[in-house]
Amino acid sequence: MPTEQVHLEKVTWKNYSQLIKLRVSKEQDHFVARNTNSLIHAYLWLSEGNHVYPFGIYLDRKPIGFVMIGYNGYEEGDPAFMKDTYFIWRFMIDRRYQGKGYGKQAFQLALDFVRTLPCGQSDICWLSYEPENEAAKKLYASFGFVEAPEGYVEDEEMPAILKL
Ligand SMILES: CC(C)(COP(=O)(O)OP(=O)(O)OC[C@H]1O[C@@H](n2cnc3c(N)ncnc32)[C@H](O)[C@@H]1OP(=O)(O)O)[C@@H](O)C(=O)NCCC(=O)NCCS
Repeated sequence: MPTEQVHLEKVTWKNYSQLIKLRVSKEQDHFVARNTNSLIHAYLWLSEGNHVYPFGIYLDRKPIGFVMIGYNGYEEGDPAFMKDTYFIWRFMIDRRYQGKGYGKQAFQLALDFVRTLPCGQSDICWLSYEPENEAAKKLYASFGFVEAPEGYVEDEEMPAILKL
């Protein structure tokens, strides 16, 4: 029997309603925004002339998660590594599909996308997580993300950086 394939699909009119139904567990709710809110943020970010790439994570035809990549999240006062660099803005796997290795596969695909450098050359990808989010911290570290020396940023999240 062929193994099931994890892949990313762009968010469109056709699939967004499935993706906004996905949920993390109650205990994880404060680790990541609801996908509906992420899509609102994507719209606002785009409307201000910025770049953002929201994707559904699929297991064959089944939607199992959501990932959103941004570019140049820098605002005055932010650490310099946020300027003209890529960032994984949102990442979640629905609670029913967690702990099966799909997060790892999807994250690899998100990084593969970043490495196509859709907004131009950059040697950094960064992200941030809540300090008690052990699963996310471990997952990101396994891909080479290193916590930024600047320490906590907005919303008390820890930023971590990957050299592309
Ligand atoms: C973080 C998240 C995306 C991981 O997805 P997943 O499909 O469950 O992850 P996988 O099964 O692929 O596991 C990948 C790695 O994550 C880490 N991990 C996953 N679940 C973990 C847990 N409960 N405790 C500790 N580490 C865990 C491990 O390093 C694991 O690799 P390993 O099995 O080789 O040790 C998922 O837990 C999630 O959606 N969490 C809620 C939202 C969130 O926190 N998003 C990130 C915001 S920064």
